[in-house]
Amino acid sequence: MLFSETSRTIENYLWELSRCTEFYERHGVTRRLYTTAWQKAQSMIFDWMCEADLDPWIDAVGNVHGRVQGSSDQTILTGSHVDTVVDGGAYDGAYGIIAGIMALGEIKSRQISLPRSLEVVALCEEEGSRFPMTCWGSRALLGQVALENLSLQDADGVSVKEAMRSCGLDPHHIEWAPSCYYTGFIELHVEQALQLESLHCPIGVVDTIFGQERWNVSIVGESAHAGTSRLANRHDALVASSEMVLGTYRLAQQHEEKAIGTVGRLQVHNGTSNCVPGQVNFTVDLRAQSDLLREALASELRGLFKDCGRRYGVGIAIDQYSSANAVPMHLELQNLIQKSAKTHHLDTLLLDSRAGHDAQIFGTTIPTAMIFVPSHQGLSHHVNEFTNAEDLMNGEKVLRDVLERAANAMFS
Ligand code: GLV
Ligand code: MN
Ligand code: MN
Repeated sequence: MLFSETSRTIENYLWELSRCTEFYERHGVTRRLYTTAWQKAQSMIFDWMCEADLDPWIDAVGNVHGRVQGSSDQTILTGSHVDTVVDGGAYDGAYGIIAGIMALGEIKSRQISLPRSLEVVALCEEEGSRFPMTCWGSRALLGQVALENLSLQDADGVSVKEAMRSCGLDPHHIEWAPSCYYTGFIELHVEQALQLESLHCPIGVVDTIFGQERWNVSIVGESAHAGTSRLANRHDALVASSEMVLGTYRLAQQHEEKAIGTVGRLQVHNGTSNCVPGQVNFTVDLRAQSDLLREALASELRGLFKDCGRRYGVGIAIDQYSSANAVPMHLELQNLIQKSAKTHHLDTLLLDSRAGHDAQIFGTTIPTAMIFVPSHQGLSHHVNEFTNAEDLMNGEKVLRDVLERAANAMFS
């Protein structure tokens, strides 16, 4: 039976995929790269692609692909990421994969001949929730990963190389890049913000994806006795870090229309109630609509941290471990999405994406566009992430229509 002929809905598939999680006892979905839950999800998706008659295969880093061959090898790609943040929702990433399989399954079942081929991909990693890297799947497809990335480690000291081996993947082949035949990428995703829902608009057309960078910051002070050490003599890494966290927040407050900054993880080494903290590590996530603004804010923040370090007598090391430039989406593809939505009598809204996406990676190399559907209350990276069934179906309809138009070479 074909995937498109089953009576299962997008919601059914999302629910099934959400059960591939590392922590059953918790409410959110946690599916980090190369874990058992991740393997289970990719294998489920592989089976769904088989049902949809898409002749699936798995590439060097573990992306799962399905395909509808056209009369040329020029290929329009769709899909999204299968990994999640810790305790995330069921829709982020997963929706774009499932809708992509449905769209291609339906097109394949019609046995029409298209000038270009279509492909759907379940990208192995985007979030950066296990290893200090992001968009591993899309970067690999574009030949932007290197063998030295294999030595990056997760919080338990497991390297990318070891994690790949545990999934039966050969780490030596990661530099293989089939991107030469991709002529476009179209990603369907939940909005993860409030605009579409608050304006009762079913379809978002992304204009620009904000650029982003992530830092690991290490603050080294001096641990001391909580009772006997005088304040003036302390080198308290946590007090210094607290000012830096607030500094990041205040900088974001000043520029919120066009930029944002977040400290999402903070660890106090050997944290003990009767010790002055000697070392703190934290992350910074900085995003902006333009690279110029992001660079200016990054430099202001570095200055602010340095000043803090001087005042508290602590050392600072900043490691920027990932960055992606702001990327405008392809105009012709944006127009195609608008036309498709109109065909289905659906209103559209042009908006920016403050969330990062694999489209940001593809968008630097090939014509790329994103379709958004509303997120209830704008919630995402949260167990209560939700999009209603009608909006999910609308997104899939528009995606299918856009893919067909693009495969018919209706953009250059
Ligand atoms: C990914 O979801 C990101 O925006 O960080
Ligand atoms: Mn996400
Ligand atoms: Mn996502």
